[in-house]
Amino acid sequence: MSKPAPVGRFVTLEGIDGAGKSSHLEALAAWLRGHGHEVVLTREPGGTALAEALRELVLHQPMDALTEALLVFAARRDHLRALIEPALARGATVLCDRYADATFAYQGAGRGFDRERLAVLERWVQQGREPDLTLWFDVDAATAAARRAAVRAPDRFEGEDLAFFERVRAGYAERAGAAAARFVRLDASHPPAAVWQQIEAAMSARGWW
Ligand code: TYD
Repeated sequence: MSKPAPVGRFVTLEGIDGAGKSSHLEALAAWLRGHGHEVVLTREPGGTALAEALRELVLHQPMDALTEALLVFAARRDHLRALIEPALARGATVLCDRYADATFAYQGAGRGFDRERLAVLERWVQQGREPDLTLWFDVDAATAAARRAAVRAPDRFEGEDLAFFERVRAGYAERAGAAAARFVRLDASHPPAAVWQQIEAAMSARGWW
Protein backbone atom coordinates (compact mmCIF):
# COMPACT_ATOMS: atom_id res chain seq x y z
CA MET A 1 0.00 0.00 0.00
CA SER A 2 1.37 3.43 -0.86
CA LYS A 3 1.82 5.98 1.87
CA PRO A 4 -0.70 8.82 2.01
CA ALA A 5 0.51 12.10 0.53
CA PRO A 6 2.20 14.33 3.12
CA VAL A 7 0.20 17.25 4.43
CA GLY A 8 2.01 20.55 4.45
CA ARG A 9 0.85 23.07 7.03
CA PHE A 10 0.73 26.78 6.41
CA VAL A 11 1.50 28.85 9.51
CA THR A 12 1.46 32.66 9.51
CA LEU A 13 2.67 35.20 12.04
CA GLU A 14 0.84 38.49 12.33
CA GLY A 15 0.78 41.63 14.44
CA ILE A 16 1.51 45.34 14.33
CA ASP A 17 5.10 46.51 13.72
CA GLY A 18 7.05 46.15 16.95
CA ALA A 19 4.88 43.34 18.34
CA GLY A 20 7.98 41.12 18.36
CA LYS A 21 6.96 38.35 15.94
CA SER A 22 10.17 38.47 13.88
CA SER A 23 12.33 37.66 16.91
CA HIS A 24 10.48 34.32 17.33
CA LEU A 25 10.54 33.17 13.70
CA GLU A 26 13.91 31.40 13.79
CA ALA A 27 13.13 29.71 17.11
CA LEU A 28 9.82 28.50 15.75
CA ALA A 29 11.51 27.14 12.62
CA ALA A 30 14.06 25.34 14.80
CA TRP A 31 11.27 23.91 16.98
CA LEU A 32 9.51 22.52 13.91
CA ARG A 33 12.73 21.10 12.44
CA GLY A 34 13.35 19.44 15.80
CA HIS A 35 10.01 17.71 15.31
CA GLY A 36 11.24 16.36 11.97
CA HIS A 37 9.63 18.80 9.56
CA GLU A 38 11.00 20.45 6.46
CA VAL A 39 10.44 24.15 7.14
CA VAL A 40 10.21 26.89 4.55
CA LEU A 41 10.72 30.22 6.27
CA THR A 42 9.43 33.15 4.28
CA ARG A 43 7.73 36.56 4.49
CA GLU A 44 5.28 38.96 2.87
CA PRO A 45 5.52 41.09 0.96
CA GLY A 46 8.41 39.03 -0.36
CA GLY A 47 9.63 35.46 -0.51
CA THR A 48 10.56 35.39 -4.22
CA ALA A 49 12.89 37.65 -6.24
CA LEU A 50 9.95 39.46 -7.83
CA ALA A 51 7.99 39.78 -4.59
CA GLU A 52 11.07 41.10 -2.76
CA ALA A 53 11.46 43.76 -5.47
CA LEU A 54 7.79 44.72 -4.98
CA ARG A 55 8.38 44.83 -1.21
CA GLU A 56 11.07 47.46 -1.69
CA LEU A 57 8.59 49.63 -3.59
CA VAL A 58 5.73 49.13 -1.11
CA LEU A 59 7.91 49.93 1.90
CA HIS A 60 9.73 52.93 0.48
CA GLN A 61 7.95 54.61 -2.47
CA PRO A 62 5.07 57.06 -2.01
CA MET A 63 1.80 55.63 -3.44
CA ASP A 64 -1.92 55.62 -2.81
CA ALA A 65 -3.85 52.86 -1.03
CA LEU A 66 -5.10 51.20 -4.24
CA THR A 67 -1.60 50.92 -5.71
CA GLU A 68 -0.36 49.62 -2.38
CA ALA A 69 -3.07 46.96 -2.24
CA LEU A 70 -2.46 45.88 -5.85
CA LEU A 71 1.30 45.57 -5.32
CA VAL A 72 0.84 43.56 -2.13
CA PHE A 73 -1.50 41.16 -3.92
CA ALA A 74 0.80 40.96 -6.96
CA ALA A 75 3.64 39.98 -4.62
CA ARG A 76 1.36 37.42 -2.96
CA ARG A 77 0.38 35.89 -6.30
CA ASP A 78 4.02 35.30 -7.24
CA HIS A 79 4.87 34.03 -3.75
CA LEU A 80 1.98 31.55 -3.74
CA ARG A 81 2.69 30.25 -7.21
CA ALA A 82 6.47 29.95 -6.99
CA LEU A 83 7.11 29.12 -3.35
CA ILE A 84 4.17 28.47 -1.01
CA GLU A 85 2.06 26.07 -3.10
CA PRO A 86 4.99 23.87 -4.22
CA ALA A 87 6.29 23.68 -0.63
CA LEU A 88 2.90 22.66 0.77
CA ALA A 89 2.47 20.14 -2.04
CA ARG A 90 5.64 18.31 -1.05
CA GLY A 91 4.61 18.28 2.61
CA ALA A 92 6.78 21.09 3.98
CA THR A 93 5.64 23.39 6.76
CA VAL A 94 5.51 26.94 5.49
CA LEU A 95 6.23 29.55 8.13
CA CYS A 96 5.32 32.96 6.78
CA ASP A 97 5.95 36.34 8.41
CA ARG A 98 2.61 38.04 7.48
CA TYR A 99 0.04 37.11 4.84
CA ALA A 100 -3.46 38.23 3.86
CA ASP A 101 -4.57 39.22 7.37
CA ALA A 102 -1.92 41.97 7.16
CA THR A 103 -3.59 43.32 4.02
CA PHE A 104 -6.97 43.57 5.74
CA ALA A 105 -5.35 45.06 8.85
CA TYR A 106 -2.99 47.57 7.16
CA GLN A 107 -4.61 48.48 3.82
CA GLY A 108 -8.15 47.81 5.08
CA ALA A 109 -8.37 48.98 8.69
CA GLY A 110 -5.22 51.13 8.71
CA ARG A 111 -5.60 52.98 5.39
CA GLY A 112 -9.36 52.67 5.18
CA PHE A 113 -9.29 50.86 1.82
CA ASP A 114 -12.59 49.22 0.89
CA ARG A 115 -12.75 45.72 2.44
CA GLU A 116 -15.15 44.38 -0.17
CA ARG A 117 -12.60 45.10 -2.88
CA LEU A 118 -9.87 43.53 -0.80
CA ALA A 119 -12.06 40.44 -0.42
CA VAL A 120 -12.47 40.25 -4.22
CA LEU A 121 -8.69 40.46 -4.70
CA GLU A 122 -8.19 37.90 -1.94
CA ARG A 123 -10.45 35.36 -3.70
CA TRP A 124 -8.92 36.09 -7.08
CA VAL A 125 -5.28 35.85 -5.98
CA GLN A 126 -5.41 33.21 -3.25
CA GLN A 127 -8.01 30.86 -4.69
CA GLY A 128 -8.95 29.68 -1.23
CA ARG A 129 -5.42 29.32 0.16
CA GLU A 130 -5.76 30.21 3.84
CA PRO A 131 -3.29 29.59 6.67
CA ASP A 132 -3.91 26.50 8.79
CA LEU A 133 -2.78 28.43 11.83
CA THR A 134 -2.20 32.13 12.48
CA LEU A 135 -0.21 33.27 15.49
CA TRP A 136 -1.34 36.81 16.25
CA PHE A 137 1.14 38.79 18.35
CA ASP A 138 -1.17 41.28 20.00
CA VAL A 139 0.14 44.33 21.78
CA ASP A 140 -1.05 47.92 22.18
CA ALA A 141 0.23 50.54 19.74
CA ALA A 142 2.19 52.55 22.32
CA THR A 143 4.18 49.54 23.54
CA ALA A 144 4.96 48.52 19.97
CA ALA A 145 6.05 52.06 19.06
CA ALA A 146 8.45 52.18 22.00
CA ARG A 147 9.98 48.86 20.94
CA ARG A 148 10.40 50.02 17.33
CA ALA A 149 12.00 53.30 18.35
CA ALA A 150 14.63 51.38 20.29
CA VAL A 151 15.81 49.32 17.32
CA ARG A 152 15.32 50.85 13.85
CA ALA A 153 14.51 53.74 11.54
CA PRO A 154 10.88 53.68 10.32
CA ASP A 155 9.72 52.61 6.83
CA ARG A 156 6.48 53.93 5.23
CA PHE A 157 4.29 51.98 7.64
CA GLU A 158 6.37 52.29 10.76
CA GLY A 159 6.31 56.09 10.46
CA GLU A 160 2.51 56.12 10.95
CA ASP A 161 1.03 57.44 14.20
CA LEU A 162 -0.46 55.56 17.17
CA ALA A 163 -4.02 55.97 15.85
CA PHE A 164 -3.04 54.16 12.62
CA PHE A 165 -1.59 51.23 14.57
CA GLU A 166 -4.62 51.06 16.88
CA ARG A 167 -6.77 50.76 13.72
CA VAL A 168 -4.47 48.04 12.38
CA ARG A 169 -4.71 46.23 15.71
CA ALA A 170 -8.51 46.48 15.59
CA GLY A 171 -8.35 45.12 12.04
CA TYR A 172 -6.48 42.07 13.30
CA ALA A 173 -9.03 41.63 16.10
CA GLU A 174 -11.81 41.67 13.49
CA ARG A 175 -10.05 39.05 11.35
CA ALA A 176 -9.41 36.91 14.42
CA GLY A 177 -13.07 37.11 15.40
CA ALA A 178 -14.16 36.03 11.92
CA ALA A 179 -11.74 33.08 11.75
CA ALA A 180 -11.47 31.93 15.37
CA ALA A 181 -10.55 28.34 14.42
CA ARG A 182 -7.24 29.27 12.81
CA PHE A 183 -6.27 32.27 14.97
CA VAL A 184 -4.37 32.08 18.23
CA ARG A 185 -4.01 35.39 20.06
CA LEU A 186 -0.71 35.72 21.91
CA ASP A 187 -0.31 38.39 24.56
CA ALA A 188 2.81 40.03 23.13
CA SER A 189 3.12 42.61 25.91
CA HIS A 190 5.08 40.04 27.91
CA PRO A 191 8.88 39.53 27.72
CA PRO A 192 10.13 37.25 24.89
CA ALA A 193 10.49 34.11 27.06
CA ALA A 194 6.87 34.34 28.20
CA VAL A 195 5.66 34.92 24.63
CA TRP A 196 7.66 31.89 23.49
CA GLN A 197 5.86 29.76 26.09
CA GLN A 198 2.54 30.83 24.59
CA ILE A 199 3.80 29.96 21.09
CA GLU A 200 4.95 26.52 22.14
CA ALA A 201 1.67 25.86 23.93
CA ALA A 202 -0.30 26.92 20.83
CA MET A 203 1.82 24.74 18.55
CA SER A 204 1.65 21.70 20.82
CA ALA A 205 -2.11 22.07 21.25
CA ARG A 206 -2.62 21.53 17.50
CA GLY A 207 -1.24 18.01 17.63
CA TRP A 208 0.09 18.31 14.06
CA TRP A 209 3.77 18.12 14.75
P1 TYD B 1 7.52 43.52 8.47
O1 TYD B 1 7.10 42.21 7.95
O2 TYD B 1 7.09 43.88 9.84
O3 TYD B 1 9.09 43.55 8.30
P2 TYD B 1 10.17 44.28 9.14
O4 TYD B 1 10.18 43.54 10.44
O5 TYD B 1 11.38 44.09 8.30
O6 TYD B 1 9.74 45.71 9.27
O7 TYD B 1 7.16 44.73 7.51
C1 TYD B 1 6.36 44.62 6.43
C2 TYD B 1 5.45 45.81 6.36
O8 TYD B 1 4.54 45.63 5.30
C3 TYD B 1 4.64 46.00 7.62
O9 TYD B 1 4.70 47.34 8.05
C4 TYD B 1 3.22 45.73 7.20
C5 TYD B 1 3.23 45.93 5.71
N1 TYD B 1 2.28 45.04 5.00
C6 TYD B 1 1.12 45.59 4.50
O10 TYD B 1 0.86 46.79 4.66
N2 TYD B 1 0.24 44.77 3.84
C7 TYD B 1 0.47 43.46 3.64
O11 TYD B 1 -0.37 42.75 3.03
C8 TYD B 1 1.68 42.90 4.16
C9 TYD B 1 1.97 41.44 3.96
C10 TYD B 1 2.56 43.73 4.85
